[in-house]
Amino acid sequence: MTSQPDLTNQPHVAIVGATGAVGREMLVCLEERNFPLSKLTLLASARSAGQKLPFRGEEITVEELTTESFAGINIALFSAGGGISEKFGPVAAAAGCVVIDNSSAFRMDSEVPLVVPEINPEAAKNHPRNIIANPNCSTTITLMGLAPLHRAFGLKGIIASTYQAVSGSGAQGITELEDQINALATGGTIEKNVYPHQIAHNVIPHVDVFRDSGYTKEEQKMLHEGRKILNLPDLKVTCTCVRVPVMRSHSISLTAIFEKGPTVAEAQAVFKNAPGIRLVDDPSEALYPVPLDTTGKDDCLIGRIRKDQVLPNALALWVVGDQVKKGAALNAVQIAEIL
Ligand code: A2P
Repeated sequence: MTSQPDLTNQPHVAIVGATGAVGREMLVCLEERNFPLSKLTLLASARSAGQKLPFRGEEITVEELTTESFAGINIALFSAGGGISEKFGPVAAAAGCVVIDNSSAFRMDSEVPLVVPEINPEAAKNHPRNIIANPNCSTTITLMGLAPLHRAFGLKGIIASTYQAVSGSGAQGITELEDQINALATGGTIEKNVYPHQIAHNVIPHVDVFRDSGYTKEEQKMLHEGRKILNLPDLKVTCTCVRVPVMRSHSISLTAIFEKGPTVAEAQAVFKNAPGIRLVDDPSEALYPVPLDTTGKDDCLIGRIRKDQVLPNALALWVVGDQVKKGAALNAVQIAEIL
């Protein structure tokens, strides 16, 4: 049994993986949201120790992550990959720190809540292992679009195709796309380190590792994490995850099957007051969500809502959100706000 920290005073917060794409955005989110904290500690690998990152008009020096890093820290936002979370998450939790983990290491642990604050905020309050998991980015953005409809019409199944930005592979994914675009423009050599194929001018239907089922681990996350967050153990999901040459917002094409089939107008009305998601749906004016319109923004966007022409009680939809923000950093900071 781990000890529960006292968070009644302003917490001492740490970011593990502070130099990465998501870690840096966590700094931005803490600053933008004026998150109340007494101190911020930035942790990364030995390679980055001594580097300085700006926060609230000052510079904070990055420290090397060690097992001793968590003394006195109340909340640690982890975004340094699953291996680091598995190794250091329990160490931090045992030191009395609440871990908010962006990796998949603990998401399906029955004692670890999996939280999207707009959907299941109450789950964040019960964290017996001192660990709270941040969902997979595509799952979060998909559920931001589907949870309001589920509350109104009862979700039964999802058929999804994702269009995932390279930011989902961290800073290295962004660099690989930038370098390949540059090489194509200048006649240079295309280097492939992150993806099995060239990503510039291409799409790759392969995100994370393949399973025996023929689906990838990323595609299975949509099923398992969706069931857990929505508390729908019988939810059915078929998903194809595709990497596209977009820098940092994910788009998802969805067919959603409901118990009661809503009309398009009924579905659109649901989004008038839904937190964190905005309806952009006037195709006659070429108004629909596109990734560049969500980049750097907190809100997800939903549009192209129409009746599915194959399945009964189903809608076709298009939802877009910034993978680095709502898909990762912002969601983690919102969980910390609940604490
Ligand atoms: P570093 O920059 O020192 O390598 P991204 O997902 O954008 O690639 O970011 C990964 C983050 O995880 C970076 O902040 C990276 O730090 C950090 N990281 C990677 N390996 C380790 C490690 N062994 N110990 C601590 N942090 C690590």
